[in-house]
Parts: sequence; C-alpha cells; structure tokens
Amino acid sequence: MIKVITYGTFDLFHEGHYRLLERAKALGDYLIVGVTTEGYDISRGKLNVVDDLMTRIENVRKTGFADEIIIEESIGQKVNDVKKYQIDIFTVGSDWTGVFDYMNEYCKVVYLERTKNVSSTMLRNQNFKIQRIGIIGNGRIAGRFVAEAKCVSGVSVQGVYNPHIESAQRFANEHEIDAFLTTDVLYDKSEIIYVATPHETHYAYVKEALLHDKHVICEKPLVLKKEQAEELFALAKERNKILFEGIKTAYCPGFNNLINVACSGMIGSVRYVDACFTKLENRENRELTDLVYGGSFLELGSYCLLPVLKLFGCEYETIDFESIHGENGLDLFTKASFQFHKGLATVTCGLGVKSEGRLLIAGTKGYIVAEAPWWKTTYFEVHFEDADRVEKYSERFLGDGLRYEISALLKQINGNTKTDFKLTRSESITMAGIMEQFMIKEGRCTDEDMGA
Ligand code: CTP
Repeated sequence: MIKVITYGTFDLFHEGHYRLLERAKALGDYLIVGVTTEGYDISRGKLNVVDDLMTRIENVRKTGFADEIIIEESIGQKVNDVKKYQIDIFTVGSDWTGVFDYMNEYCKVVYLERTKNVSSTMLRNQNFKIQRIGIIGNGRIAGRFVAEAKCVSGVSVQGVYNPHIESAQRFANEHEIDAFLTTDVLYDKSEIIYVATPHETHYAYVKEALLHDKHVICEKPLVLKKEQAEELFALAKERNKILFEGIKTAYCPGFNNLINVACSGMIGSVRYVDACFTKLENRENRELTDLVYGGSFLELGSYCLLPVLKLFGCEYETIDFESIHGENGLDLFTKASFQFHKGLATVTCGLGVKSEGRLLIAGTKGYIVAEAPWWKTTYFEVHFEDADRVEKYSERFLGDGLRYEISALLKQINGNTKTDFKLTRSESITMAGIMEQFMIKEGRCTDEDMGA
C-alpha cells in the first residue's frame, strides 16, 4: 500500500484545494491530510485565516479524498509524521517547490502543479473589502504600525493626519502613504482610524472618529477617566463600530498561552500577580516633563494591569499607590497594590528607576515566571514545590507584535471573531478608572477639571 501525506490550511475551501487533494489521493492508496491549527498559523505569520479549524477539517473530509485527517500544530512535525505513519510520498502544491526537498531523505517528494487564479488570499480579499486605515498622529509608534500593518492581509494604511502639516508630510513621504491635510479627507479615505496621539487627545479624536462611523484602534491608555471610556464604548456600540484599545501584549500568542496555562489549574488557584515594567527614559522627554499626563504609571501601567485584570477580573476591593517622585513632581516609579476577593496583586512601573521587569503569577500549587520583556512574551517557566520540576514554554513573537492586534481588529470587523475576549471592554474601562484614581491621588488637575 502506498501512503501519501499532504498539508495545508484549507481556508475558504476552493477548487485549488479540491484539485490538489484529488491528485494527492491518485498518487497512492491511502491519503493523510494535515490541517493546520489556528495557533500554528498565527505563529508562522499567517494571521487572517477566516474559517475555524473544525470547518476546515470538515471541508477536507467532505471531498471524500482523505482516508485520515490529522492536525498540524508545530514546525518540524512533518518529518515526525512521515516516520510515524510510514509515508511513501509527501506532496504539496508547486508554490512550495524546493522548500520541502529536505524531506527526500525520508520519503519521495512530489510538487503538484498549483491551480491557477485561485487562492485563499484572493478569496479573502474578494469576500472582505480591504479596510483602509487612516492614522492620526505620527510619532515613533505610528511608524512601527505602518510596517506591521503590511504583514496583515486585508488592511492597507492609506494616510496620516496631523494638525502639524509639515510633520505629517514628512512621515507620509517616509512611509509612502498620503498626508491628509484635513480630518474630512481622513474620514473620507479610511474605514479604520488609528489614534496614536498624546494621551490627553485620545478622547476627542476617538469620539470624533466614532461619530463619523469609523472603527477605531487607539493606543493605550485609551482614556484616563472611567466615564469617558464607558461613553466611548457605548457610542461604538450604538454606531455598530469596533473600538479597540491597542495593548499589543493582549494579542500576542505567547502572552495568551501564558494566561491559558495560569487558568488551566496547573499552578492551582492563582493567588498573587506581580507585574513589573521599567524603561529608563530621558529626563527631557515628554514622558518625564508633561506634568499632567506624563510619568511612569500612565506610560507603562496598561501593560502591567493587563495580566492582573485577566487573572483576577475587574472587581478589585482595594487599590493603593505609592510613588517615587522626581523634582518636577512626576512619578519616576510607581507601585500599585491591589486586593481582590481571590488574591493580591502588585504592579510596578518605572521610567526613572530600573528594575528587573518580571511577571510572576503565584498559585496554590506552583508559580509562573516570565522575565522581561514579558510584554512581548516568547518564553515562560512554570515552577513547583519540587524545585527540580520546571515546565518550559516558548512561542514566537513576530516583528514588533502590532500585527497581532491589527489582525485581531480585522477579524472583529469582518465578523470572524464574535467576542473581544483578548481585551474586553470591561478591562479597558477598568484600566481607565485605575488611571483616573492614580491621577486624583497624585493631585493632577486636567484642563477639564479646571473647567476649561
Ligand atoms: N493549492 C493549489 N492550488 C491553489 C491553491 C492552493 O494547489 N490555487 C495547494 C497548495 O499548494 C497547498 C494546498 O493547496 O498544497 C493547501 O494550500 P493553502 O495554503 O491552504 O491554500 P492557499 O490558497 O495557497 O492559501 P493562502 O492564499 O492563504 O496562501
């Protein structure tokens, strides 16, 4: 009996897939088809798969060509499968010619001619119109966003708006996008608005974009007042638009895996979370000179609050802040301590004090530790009472990681993900409330508070 194996994502099942499977089956007597998992696709940078795994498997099964269907979940699995299933022929489409020549060592490799003029990418682009993104603000993060958006099929960064026209023009030239001279043009040419302006301007820009019926992705912290966050999410709901706070950590595969492990029971019940993020900043920079909206906690707090709220929920019983202040009164280092019904949490952020920047999650049976930069999680360990027992996990983190949040946003817009479970509205609203409490405690008065 000749055994054949082939692999694919088989998203939006099409004629090319059907013809490939038909010919793969004809190469032998028994065909095994490996269908990729969502996690594997994300980790190899295929970010916009529409159909879920069960749908893709079902579509392969319906062709009647597969004698057996397996799932492909990691790089390097192919060689293992060939040995395990005693495969005679490995086959894929001709778009992969050469890539799998190394498999010749284990079995025969056959590249089948690819069917012309059809692909999942083409169908995704036909079924879902390209979402044009207009950027407001052109700081460093906006530059990274443009580069990362290129890795996500289905979106296109159209242009940038900044009231300082020359600055927008420079950025536009550098990134080969348009410079929008007015917000009217910005709204006319975009379906999604990316707000990457200083914190205090977020509220007004997000609101205006929603009132123009645009989806919005806003840099963290979304806003610094609970009421404003509630109002913006209510407005987004009323307008049937997605409002999305851009905390990249929430969407990266490694961090999601870490939270899943923490919730899996492996370390028992989670009782303590300690999240630290420090980044020494030049004392002349906005972050350490803006006396109302600067400082460590407003700058870095969102990252550290994320695991705390994910693991303990949004209902904390008490919160307490302690800070080390610079001469100008801004916090160079802040520690926020929480008491929850289920446990305790501390969050430490520093722009003027360097610390280890670790995430620690302690449970009744063990603890998880992820070293800096855990906010771009690629590796974490699980430890137990028996010090010799250590479980190690690693995940890829591609580029600057913004591609994961852009892809998650696109999935929500296209209706392929129904929920916002990776970063919920309640979590964003709670974070805004915590920032607000911090500002009150620090005696920071906003223009609005002064009745401006
Ligand atoms: N395939 C093919 N002809 C096509 C499209 C795909 O023969 N027109 C083959 C691929 O070469 C592969 C298998 O079908 O062996 C599964 O491909 P997959 O990557 O799932 O499909 P694509 O349409 O290529 O997906 P994408 O556009 O996302 O890359």
